[in-house]
Amino acid sequence: MVTRQNASTKHDSVRAKSEPAAVLVVHGPNLNLLGEREPEVYGRTRLADINRKLKDLGGELGIKVDTFQSNSEGAIIDRIQAARGKADFLLINPGAYTHTSVAIRDAIAGVAIPAIEVHLSNVYKRETFRHRSTIADIVVGRIMGFGAEGYYLALRAARAAIDAARAEVS
Ligand code: DQA
Repeated sequence: MVTRQNASTKHDSVRAKSEPAAVLVVHGPNLNLLGEREPEVYGRTRLADINRKLKDLGGELGIKVDTFQSNSEGAIIDRIQAARGKADFLLINPGAYTHTSVAIRDAIAGVAIPAIEVHLSNVYKRETFRHRSTIADIVVGRIMGFGAEGYYLALRAARAAIDAARAEVS
């Protein structure tokens, strides 16, 4: 592992070019109910379908995609910590923990894996308590309001960012 520093990210880890690109996708609480839960807000696509499509797209983009969902804050933190040195990028939809969890923020900052924050809904069109994100200022970027499509956009963005980071250190 080598380290890079630029204006937007402090010491994000960049895994060696020889290692296949790896992305961890973390889904937070209640996202296991996607497809059934408030479909007018979150759409009708099930989480298993999103995960399958992410893996297929990962195959096309040359990325090994691991997916993880938990309703528990501690389990999410454990999974993020386990990705240290193993994942090039993190895509995370922390669900309601987006608005409350300093611990998830600290985990992302602690492992120094560059991350993209994904939300199915446009949280700014919703209640004001959803406008606050504890991770907005430590992620590379945020994608929201495009439903399941946002995850696929995020994976493509991660591929471009991994390529850019690897080119920078080679
Ligand atoms: C969400 C938005 C959150 O406010 C909400 O608590 C979720 C889903 C989204 O994907 O739009 O669980 O993260």
